[in-house]
Amino acid sequence: MSAKADLSTRAALIRNRLLAASQRHVMAFWDELTVAQRARLLADLESIPLDQLPDLVATHVAADGSLPLPSADRLEPVQPSALAGRQAADAGDAMLARGEVAALTLAGGQGTRLGFDGPKGAYPIGPVSGHSFFQLYAASLRRVGNRFGKPVPWYVMTSRCNHAATVAYFEANAHFGLDASDVFFFEQGQMPCLTREGMLVLADRDRLALAPDGHGGLIEALGRSGALESMHDRGVCRVSCFQIDNPLVRCIDPVFLGMHAASGAQMSVKAVPKAHDTEGLGNVCMHGGRLRVIEYSDFPPDLASARNSDGAPRYRTGSISIYVIEVAFVEALLAGGDGLPFHRAVKRQRQIDPSNGKPFEGEVLKLEKFLFDALTLADRALVVETRRDEEFSPVKNLCGADSPASAKRDMNERAARWLEAAGAKVPRDDRGEPAATLEISPLLADSADALAGVVDRGMRIEPGSFVYLR
Ligand code: UTP
Repeated sequence: MSAKADLSTRAALIRNRLLAASQRHVMAFWDELTVAQRARLLADLESIPLDQLPDLVATHVAADGSLPLPSADRLEPVQPSALAGRQAADAGDAMLARGEVAALTLAGGQGTRLGFDGPKGAYPIGPVSGHSFFQLYAASLRRVGNRFGKPVPWYVMTSRCNHAATVAYFEANAHFGLDASDVFFFEQGQMPCLTREGMLVLADRDRLALAPDGHGGLIEALGRSGALESMHDRGVCRVSCFQIDNPLVRCIDPVFLGMHAASGAQMSVKAVPKAHDTEGLGNVCMHGGRLRVIEYSDFPPDLASARNSDGAPRYRTGSISIYVIEVAFVEALLAGGDGLPFHRAVKRQRQIDPSNGKPFEGEVLKLEKFLFDALTLADRALVVETRRDEEFSPVKNLCGADSPASAKRDMNERAARWLEAAGAKVPRDDRGEPAATLEISPLLADSADALAGVVDRGMRIEPGSFVYLR
């Protein structure tokens, strides 16, 4: 069959499926499209679950079909475990020495709030080095690999909007010193954007408006992409999973790994006390004996501000989205679909009016899965509380809170604290902030203890200096 005939056959098939789903409008400009444009539109249409669309519309557009919120009297605060224990660290070290742990980075998001031109992981975040998120994490994984004599395989989840650019970025930088065979890129799925009436949205005459299917798309993407198989081949039993935009993350934390294993959890999450009632973190709660994480935007205001009799916040535990996940748990989820519900988000974006082809900025509904919903599906799950100033400073916005500036400040402060704990003299200004710009390569140390072993106790930092310890 010629390429053109093949295109017509595919178009006829898609037309029938669109008809069945009452979505014919997306082919409104078909007759005006070039062959290349037709191929593009068809590829978009073939990439989405068209046959499930009527059900998805009925559940999530006509209604809001995400998990119903439990009533306040059934939603209990969670009691997290404290991050500690020599025994846990030893158990985590043993897993690493056996090569049972992989790192996994969620890097499929669109990063619209930061608005960086390129994959978010390529953003230069090191306060002195200018190293990117990816570069920091690579250094951290190299250190763990060197320490245990076994490379830590790294699985990087991308999405259609950044996959090619992410792979090219690693290739152009020789995988930041990692062996290319230890880095596995895989793409998450996409979902179509919908109108309030449940109609598919056109991003252009030859393009559907599509968006990544949320970080919860991880589970299906692991199965579909061959990443799970690769984990099996390498003897990986669990992954240490973290977001792309937290430069304080300890990519691999033996204590957390050890605590997770000792509790027999299928999935564990790190948390911190929320900075204020409505902070933009998932609220970690208990419901019917299971963990339940509720997005800050869905958390009812009366619960967010609820107090115990001593005046302390009733729901104080915020997820920082650092997880350990058992490979066997991912497989169990996949055996039943994946079990994660879609949540809908309303966003504004440029789109094409199918009635006249004119562009306009308008509302769309996006359907996303959230990885933390897997905690609710786990029969055994663990919450571990850690220190925010040691492990969490997300970069979401271009300026203000949760921005590159705030993250660099937090990196600087942590480096100063680690240096002081190691006996070094760090100048501080009137407000008590470091009066120098400091950065510690994760290849050198990923904790205060590790730094103490390698830094000269008599070290003095000059005020106003820029110091990069590697
Ligand atoms: P965010 O909730 O910050 O979303 O993702 P985002 O898409 O990156 O950024 P905005 O909202 O457009 O500004 C939290 C983490 O989950 C990953 C992101 O890459 C980030 O590490 N993520 C998010 C995915 O991997 N896939 C998704 O579909 C969404």
